[in-house]
Formats: sequence, structure tokens, C-alpha cells
Amino acid sequence: MRTGFAGKKVLVGVTGSIAAFKVAGWVSTLAKAEAQVSVVMTESACRFVTPLTFAALSGNQVHRELFDPGGEERMDHIALGRDADLVLIAPATAATIARLANGLADDLLSTAVLAARVPIIICPAMNSRMYLHPATQENIGRLKKFGYQVLTPGEGMMACREEGTGRLPEWEEVSEYLLRALTPQDLLGERVVVTAGPTREALDPARFLSNRSSGKMGYALARTAFRRGAQVQLVSGPVSLPVPPGIDCKFVTTAREMREATLGRSDWATIIVKSAAVSDFRPAFEQAEKVKKETAPRSVELAENPDILAELGKSKKKGQLLVGFAAESANLEGEGRRKLEKKNLDLIAVNSITSETTGFAADTNQILLLDRHGAEQLPLADKEQVADMIWDRAAVMIKSRSEEPGKQEIQACRQ
Ligand code: C5P
Repeated sequence: MRTGFAGKKVLVGVTGSIAAFKVAGWVSTLAKAEAQVSVVMTESACRFVTPLTFAALSGNQVHRELFDPGGEERMDHIALGRDADLVLIAPATAATIARLANGLADDLLSTAVLAARVPIIICPAMNSRMYLHPATQENIGRLKKFGYQVLTPGEGMMACREEGTGRLPEWEEVSEYLLRALTPQDLLGERVVVTAGPTREALDPARFLSNRSSGKMGYALARTAFRRGAQVQLVSGPVSLPVPPGIDCKFVTTAREMREATLGRSDWATIIVKSAAVSDFRPAFEQAEKVKKETAPRSVELAENPDILAELGKSKKKGQLLVGFAAESANLEGEGRRKLEKKNLDLIAVNSITSETTGFAADTNQILLLDRHGAEQLPLADKEQVADMIWDRAAVMIKSRSEEPGKQEIQACRQ
């Protein structure tokens, strides 16, 4: 299963806030991602941005009037909400929020929303006094009770030159909630811990031992698990990636910190994916002061780090799924199978580090997926697609595990 916007019908409701200009960019991004975007604008939205802008960016005529003769031949007030896969209202003003909270069907957008039976995501944007007023807060509470997802606005300087809560949320956050709403929830109810990135082992205050892991694979696994309905906790080594929205992230530096953070979350987790590239060794002694070139020793004594994955394998709970990674340069299947057995894993993703298109810093990866019953070579794909392929397998394993232990995995996935 691929989590994405391609082919999805998204109805975007734009209301009268200065932040409407930002949503023009979102519509453009959705259209480029091959979503079929229809836009409904309220009367006041048209005073901020012209309908022509949204028509040009979405590639479709913009809907405005409840009593538009052409539109009503197609029953737009019902069809727009009914035929969508998802409704996004952004920016959502206090007025539109109040209208929706009371089921007032007095314009095209509020009527289309009443007719919709699909996920509805609302991005409020207004002055913080208006946002924090009990009337608005009560209305938002009602919308949440209806099952609508109301995102929390951002904080900062607003168009009225006041600081506070009320800024339109950022697209990076909104898009993750849209993707979650569009994706079949085959990990709903699962509690997932993903580890990602390298660890750093200090030699002195300036220097450390580490590896080339970028964290991209682990972050892609965390993001896609969230989209598929899981609650996700990410334990991350030092990387230069933004924390994915909706995900609880604990940053660590050393292998021993990663061990503590991961073992501390293991009782909570139904699935643990250890994609981090943990340093196997650390300097046996960390120098308190920066070592001077003239007096530096010519060799460094190393101490072995704990194997976190092996510990998790030993303490694995009944029904818990443990997924490991292996970066190899030769004999991928043999090495993968040896680690699967030795560390008591359910699944292992083996990738070659000898090619530029796989492993560490690359944006793509090619995985050999092994479980107790077989092996499957996954195609070369971007890391998000690879993450989805791993979740396809994990979801089947988790499901068949609760039905009939022992008969599952690679055979089940191939059917
Ligand atoms: O044995 P190897 O290091 O190749 O195994 C890789 C797998 O083990 C990865 O899933 C990695 O996150 C995990 N690992 C670990 N603790 C270590 C070394 C590796 O959890 N000290």
C-alpha cells in the first residue's frame, strides 16, 4: 500500500482570512501530487484571493454560490461533499467554525460539509483573542464531537501584529493529517517504537565516533506508521531531519542512552523497529578536556556497547513484533538469517551498503526482507515507499498473529 495523494478527491473549503493566500500554495502542491482538487470559497474568502487563483492552481472551476444555476443542475451542494475522499477547510475563520458547529447550511461550503460522510480536517486561522474566546472554543469542541479533526493553530506574530495562538498550521503538519485521513488504517491500535539515526560516542568534548546513518529510513518508517493509524514514539540519534508531525520523539546521543530510551518504551510497544545504526563500540575512556594533538595517543581503546536489539529479543513479550535492520556488504541473506535467529527477531530488513542507491544517506533503498518462513527481495524505491512495503508485511504478521500463531508472514503477504 502506498500512502499518498495520487488519485484522491480532496475538497478544499477556503474561508475569509488573510491566510487564504497560503492555502493557494497547498492547493498547488496537492494538484502536483496528482490529487483531484475541488475548491469551494466563501464570499469573504474571495475578497482575499481571487477564485481565478484557485481555479488555475487546482485545474478546476472554483465553486462559490449556493444558488449557482449551473452548479445546482449538478446538485453541487450535495455532490461536492458526497463525492470527496476528504474535506479540508483552511483557513477556517471563527465565522465558518460557528456555522459548522451549529449545522447552519446557509452557504455552499457549510451545506457541502453537512452532506459529507468523509474525514473533515479543519485548520483554524484567526486573531488569538477570537480563537481563545469561549464561543470559538466551545464551537471547536462541538466540531471535535462530530468527529471532525481540528488542528491546533500555530503561535507567533499574526497579520494584526499581535503575538499569540491563531496562525494557520504549517503544510508539513497538515499534509501528514491529510495523508493519515486518506490511508487505510491497518495499524490502528498498534503502538510503535522506531529507532533511527546514528549514535555518537564521545572521545573528548570535541570529537566522537559515529557512522554515516542519516535517519531517513527510520523517520520514513515513523511517518508512514502514523499515517496508517499507529501511535508512534521515535527514539532518534542526532540527525538533521525535522520531527514528523503527530509523533513523540525522544532525542538521544549515545548507544547507552538509546538503550535506556528504547527499553523504557518496550513494555508499551506492540511493534518495535530498530532501524538505528547503533555504534557497536565506544571509546573506553572519554577525556574530560580536549585532547591535544601533541599528546594524543596513537590508538584508542574501545569498549563494546550493549546490543539493544538482542536485549529486546530476549525480553520480547507475547504477540510483540520485533523488527531489526542489517546493513551488509556481502552474503545478505545468510547474514540476515543469522541475525534474525540470534537476536530472536520476527522480521529483518537487510540492505546492501555497497551501492550508492541503498543504505545510509541515500534517498532510496532496496531491502531483502526475511522472516522465519522465507525471503522477499523488495524493489528499489524511495525510503517512504520502502517503509510502506515493510509495514505491509508487519501489518499482515500482526493480524495473522492474533488469528493463528505460526501461519503467517511471507507466504501470507505474497497472496
Ligand atoms: O548485528 P548488527 O549490528 O548488524 O545488527 C543490526 C541491528 O541491530 C539493527 O537493527 C540495529 O538497530 C541493532 N543494534 C542494536 N544495538 C547495537 C548494534 C545494533 O540494537 N549495539
